[in-house]
Amino acid sequence: MRIDDFHREIKSQVLNLSDRLDLISYILDIPYSEVASLSGDTVINLPLLDVVLSKINEGIPVAYITSRREFYGYEFYVDNGVLIPRVETEILISEAVRIIQDQKTTSKDVADLKVVDLFTGSGVVGITLLNEIAGLNITVVDISDDALKVVKINVDKFDVESRVKIVKLDLSVAINVESIMIDNDIILANPPYVSEEYYIDMVENLKHEPKIALVTKDNGLFYYNMLIYFLTQCRDKKILVTEIGFDQSDYLRELCHKYGLTHYFLKDYLGINRVLVCIKG
Ligand SMILES: C[S@@+](CC[C@H](N)C(=O)[O-])C[C@H]1O[C@@H](n2cnc3c(N)ncnc32)[C@H](O)[C@@H]1O
Repeated sequence: MRIDDFHREIKSQVLNLSDRLDLISYILDIPYSEVASLSGDTVINLPLLDVVLSKINEGIPVAYITSRREFYGYEFYVDNGVLIPRVETEILISEAVRIIQDQKTTSKDVADLKVVDLFTGSGVVGITLLNEIAGLNITVVDISDDALKVVKINVDKFDVESRVKIVKLDLSVAINVESIMIDNDIILANPPYVSEEYYIDMVENLKHEPKIALVTKDNGLFYYNMLIYFLTQCRDKKILVTEIGFDQSDYLRELCHKYGLTHYFLKDYLGINRVLVCIKG
């Protein structure tokens, strides 16, 4: 099959250009940056081609086929044990970098800051911050053994083992969240925030990703209620930076007002409130 034919064949699967180029780079085992310069007549009749085409026809996401996903300019290992990192989550990273740099200049040395990445999944949030901020150490938390295996692969890949503490913990248990809040200065989170009702409607699009990474109770608000409640119970200064669902900011604004918490939202590329920052103290 020629590259032009490959594009034509899988375009019907609603794959965008970067996904198609990524698949070609995977099949030919060449860097992504070299694919665009290949002629459309280049033949890609490798054994891998048939495997890729049949997975695409089954609707398997490109990141699970290639076992990689670019996030904030870094290439992470992913498999079907973890959520595929989303571009929205990069907004959380930019804000966390800004907040940590700011703390560094105003109060603590970066090495003394206690930072935790809750619901870490593939580890993208925590490991990206380590890549961006020299001297930072971080704790990453998840309940899923499959996710923690992927975190370890990425920790090795980015050679950050000495700067990461990996913790298996159930964050639906109140006392676990309470002690995490007490122990840390900056709490980063991208929790499951999809409601059961919405999931049922979206299941065709999301069915290849672990349900535990997506869905939670109380209309998708369970983890926010708990994180924000325990944030308000802390005596020292704490900052919570969390990604939120596209329709959750009105509820969360009310909740922050109720507790008298200083807070603000950051918008995504579509102008939707996507990240909530809450400051205690
Ligand atoms: C939305 S994913 C976030 C993954 C990653 N941080 C990202 O941004 O791509 C949520 C993660 O929360 C984890 N999780 C779900 N329930 C949990 C619980 N009760 N305790 C700890 N982690 C949980 C899942 O295993 C999943 O990895």
